[in-house]
Amino acid sequence: MRILSIETSCDETGVAIVDAGDEGTGVNFRVLANRTLSQVALHKEYGGVFPTLAKREHSRTLVPLFVRTLKDAGLYKTTSRHVIEHPLREEFQQILEREPELYSAFISEIPHIDPPSIDAIAVTVGPGLEPALWVGINFAKALSMIWKIPVIPANHMEGHVLSSLPSNHKDEMSLPAVEFPAVALLISGGHTELVLMRDWLSYEILGETRDDAVGEAFDKVARILGLPYPGGPEISRIAQHGTPGVYPLPRPMLRSDDLSFSFAGLKTAVLYLVRSLGELDDSHKANIAREFEEAAIDVLLSKSVRAIEMYDARTLIIGGGVSANDRLRDRFRKEVARVLPSVLLFIPDRELSTDNALMIAIAGYFERERATRDTATIIAQGNLRLTQG
Ligand code: KG4
Ligand code: ZN
Repeated sequence: MRILSIETSCDETGVAIVDAGDEGTGVNFRVLANRTLSQVALHKEYGGVFPTLAKREHSRTLVPLFVRTLKDAGLYKTTSRHVIEHPLREEFQQILEREPELYSAFISEIPHIDPPSIDAIAVTVGPGLEPALWVGINFAKALSMIWKIPVIPANHMEGHVLSSLPSNHKDEMSLPAVEFPAVALLISGGHTELVLMRDWLSYEILGETRDDAVGEAFDKVARILGLPYPGGPEISRIAQHGTPGVYPLPRPMLRSDDLSFSFAGLKTAVLYLVRSLGELDDSHKANIAREFEEAAIDVLLSKSVRAIEMYDARTLIIGGGVSANDRLRDRFRKEVARVLPSVLLFIPDRELSTDNALMIAIAGYFERERATRDTATIIAQGNLRLTQG
């Protein structure tokens, strides 16, 4: 099954094309093309993602990125026959009317492309920034209409879970045999949650953050230290030169009985510390970054171990942008091997940790039964949650 996937939930525009199938040994994916275009440079000025700007940028870049992805996959062919018939034009004028830049790019490019052989379009419908999500969704609907391809609504967080699993041999990926129950720790800019999977596609949220997500805390602490957006990679870069414990920070909710998190207090503790120190030099910043990183990882690790013990889980899956953090990867590997040696640990490839469309293709394949040509029912769901299916 050939899947085209689209991701526009936040500040990365992503398009991928994969061939997916169940073969004797399990699920296999062949990546024909996978492109991500980051808007980071644009949002840097604002110190965070600015939703209307994100939407406009997705609208401007999605069609050209899609064309490049088709070319990468060897699926781009032009045709002299104009592929959009008249009655249809009005229908998708309606679909695209809220995205004028997307509409003009669409009309100037897509009718000249020979419809490629693609079986379904997977698109992120949530969670994320709704104006940004709508760009990908409306593009998927318009393509679906003219090329007569069904659309699969995909959950961004399911993408983060599933993209941690494949062992990557260049462009061929296969999914391992996961032993259930599994616990997934999802850590990104918008989420911090522990999820129980009793089987494929079944998700039960065991605990989540009560305030800031851990990625958000990385971004805010970076700002307090005068580092640019996005803060996660910056914190982890300077933390390498720091010493933990020089400025002790709290480990919020480390000993609470539940599986909830809280990171707002940790961020505020950094703020007060920085105010008390006055002018900061590089070594202050490195020591604070390192202690902050250790504090956040301590809490994530201890709650993950607790969840695994409580539910007798056989597998731990980590997903989301913060899983790109080197120190976190290293400490989870060592600690899980030490205290839970029989638990299988999956951490995504670094390129698959942060947002990308490949993860949406994988989620789309798993959710292929949801494919529909009745796309009126597909809407952006900013607060979409993982469910038991
Ligand atoms: O999953 P993601 O790309 O987007 C969302 O779905 O939110 O996650 C983005 C988050 C940002 O908060 C970013 O600072 C954080 O992931 N991040 C990191 C690192 N790389 C990205 N946090 C810590 N260390 C990193 N190396
Ligand atoms: Zn994400």
